Amino acid sequence: MISTRSFAKQLLGFALATAFAGSSYAADPLKIGLVLPMSGPFAAYGKQIEHGVKLYLATNGDTIAGRKIELVLKDDSPGTAGDVSKRLAQELVIKDKVDILAGFGLTPSAFAVAPVATEAKKPMVVMNAATSAITTKSPYIVRTSMTLPQNSAPIATWAARSGIKNVFVLIADYGPGYDAGGQFRKTFTAAGGKVVDEVRVPVNNPDYGPFLQRIKDAKPDAVFLFLPPGAGTVAFMKGFAERGLAQSGIKLISTGDLTDEDILDALGDSALGLVTSFHYSADHKSPENQAYVVAYAKAYPKDRPNFMSVGGYDGMRLIADVLKKTGGSADAEKFVAAAKGMKWVSPRGPVMIDPATRDVVQTIYIRKVERVDGKLQNVEFDKIADVKDPGKE
Ligand code: PHB
Repeated sequence: MISTRSFAKQLLGFALATAFAGSSYAADPLKIGLVLPMSGPFAAYGKQIEHGVKLYLATNGDTIAGRKIELVLKDDSPGTAGDVSKRLAQELVIKDKVDILAGFGLTPSAFAVAPVATEAKKPMVVMNAATSAITTKSPYIVRTSMTLPQNSAPIATWAARSGIKNVFVLIADYGPGYDAGGQFRKTFTAAGGKVVDEVRVPVNNPDYGPFLQRIKDAKPDAVFLFLPPGAGTVAFMKGFAERGLAQSGIKLISTGDLTDEDILDALGDSALGLVTSFHYSADHKSPENQAYVVAYAKAYPKDRPNFMSVGGYDGMRLIADVLKKTGGSADAEKFVAAAKGMKWVSPRGPVMIDPATRDVVQTIYIRKVERVDGKLQNVEFDKIADVKDPGKE
């Protein structure tokens, strides 16, 4: 004869066992398809984001909510050809049967994959691509990097307050460039400044000579620029110095993409004194960042951690925290519901996923390039807390 109590216990056990048998995800590995440029002009983006994702797993363990994380990496270089990114994402969903799509170094890649995520009902975690509108292209996108308007408004305010009156805008001819230039113009002119001219340059390998001459002739107080960091940025800075623009007193202002730690050493002393606004600096003073920088240096001694690596690290953290909340389910609706409003302390500082936009709300810092212990660093000297993406307001 069994007691009512132990019978109830047996029933509960049976119910639980049935529930687990019914959920096919309980012990399956969880596959994340990473779409990243691993070669070509933006290979550093893929390298940095992959580093961040792997560092998170190495530091925190690669089994989350009972599911072992498997990464499947596809190289969508150059990262600016949407059709390539889209085909690879489709392959990841159909052939590799991934549960989550993630990565996305450049905007064209994220725009092209958004409809794949919607159709396949897969969560899509954007770890770098930063055109504001990206998160509006699929309800299943969550972004862990930034937006260009979010970083461009604070530097426009800083410039207006610092006595800069006339600015020449130079932007890469695609989404993030338009976002950066548009927001800079809006905030700077509202603060009484004037944009005297604007040029749009090709995303890949432009010859900056004619543009630099035009800027020199216009004699602005400063140039505001957005270029996707890489060899092009280094070439621009070299031309800026060689053609005497710096010497003639024209200042350079930018979002921190310009002084990204991955290219900062290549920019060399020409970067000294540059003031930029950004959400991440490897020099950020916090215990979380100190631990991150040390762990990164140990794992990848040849590289420096930058904002893209943190976008990958935080993207992997978001996935882990969501899976813990959903009990291991990567169902797109459940994933996004769990991600909305999520908060944590990133190496960059405190962050939150905006429930309205699925973008990061974060602190934007104003920094200056200085040599610290022999190394070029973006040294933070001012900040604005809880900045939302103004691109969606
Ligand atoms: C982008 O293509 O969205 C992009 C690329 C590089 C950046 C920021 C945004 O630094």
